[in-house]
Amino acid sequence: MDTKRWYANDFQQDKQEAIQSAAELLKAGETVAFPTETVYGLGADATNKAAINKIFQAKGRPQDNPLIVHVATPQQLKELVTSIPNYVDKLLEAFTPGPITFVLPSNGRCAENVTAGLDSVGVRLPGHPIALKLLQEAAVPVAAPSANLSGKPSPTSADHVWADLNGRIAGLLDGGTTGVGLESTVLDCTQAIPIILRPGGITKEQLEEVVGTVMIDPGLANDKEQRPKSPGMKYRHYSPDAPLWLVEGSSEKLQQVIDAEMKKGHRVGVMAASKTVTAIEADFKIDLGANMETVAATLYDALRMFNEHDVDLILCEAFSEQGIGQAVMNRLKKAASDYIK
Ligand code: TXA
Ligand code: MG
Repeated sequence: MDTKRWYANDFQQDKQEAIQSAAELLKAGETVAFPTETVYGLGADATNKAAINKIFQAKGRPQDNPLIVHVATPQQLKELVTSIPNYVDKLLEAFTPGPITFVLPSNGRCAENVTAGLDSVGVRLPGHPIALKLLQEAAVPVAAPSANLSGKPSPTSADHVWADLNGRIAGLLDGGTTGVGLESTVLDCTQAIPIILRPGGITKEQLEEVVGTVMIDPGLANDKEQRPKSPGMKYRHYSPDAPLWLVEGSSEKLQQVIDAEMKKGHRVGVMAASKTVTAIEADFKIDLGANMETVAATLYDALRMFNEHDVDLILCEAFSEQGIGQAVMNRLKKAASDYIK
């Protein structure tokens, strides 16, 4: 299949036309990748089963992993669910459009392969002007997982999407790099108290400021025994080609691990925050930035970059799980094959 690529960042006039053409493809039951404030999504009409199947095929995604549905307004969200607790109204007000997904009781309007047979549906209002415009033009709810091949890091640029999905999807709206860089927070809102199923762009601390107590799905804890309630969290994810080890502790300790591996003849790549990167020596280093927001925004690009630098092993420093650090560490633990403490 020929993948049409529009540069939606160019001139205003072209941009409107590009978004309109992309919306037409969505309405016609085709797949289109588009930027959101978190990562690029691969969209299709959520009410069209055959269109949704094309997403699973293009990504090589397991069928039992439900998709997030994207809408432009709170009203459209309400049209997909049977009931909404009061705290969701508060969260809609405080954080949308933005990086948060609400899991609510489904009224069955979405195709059955969107929800993978669950009686709940995940819905979000993305905070990106191109995404919002596309959703308005398409005028259908748009199911969209991250626009990567299943198992690969989520795409934070159109080039990432192109590398994974060129020839496998109908269109790609190129809107440059995304902002947050990690996916939305997935929040189970089917209970009296909201439960974080996947940490993401909106932190637990931010949620608690608005609604008081927020719980964390016990399945998110490190031990791999428990089955997480968010089906997507059980798969190995975000994987670069070389093995990735997380290393906790000082930069001296990280240097010891690097030296030991280099002595064995391994080509060692390291990614870490700026301070640590300056303090260590390795075959190839990636500076993830000086603060955790920047680390979150650059993480997936870094994981992909190692594939081009032919390293045998990637080491990454472990970060504190405060604020956005919780989402960063969640993704790193999923990508890592080892955690040295
Ligand atoms: O930021 C994001 O959320 C991005 C952009 C494109 O919007 N999308 C994204 O989609 O990350 P995906 O498919 O890669 O991840 C969706 C996650 C999975 O972990 C899935 O299991 C969970 O959301 N999920 C979706 N619907 C659910 C439901 N009804 N109940 C529990 N978990 C659900
Ligand atoms: Mg994904």
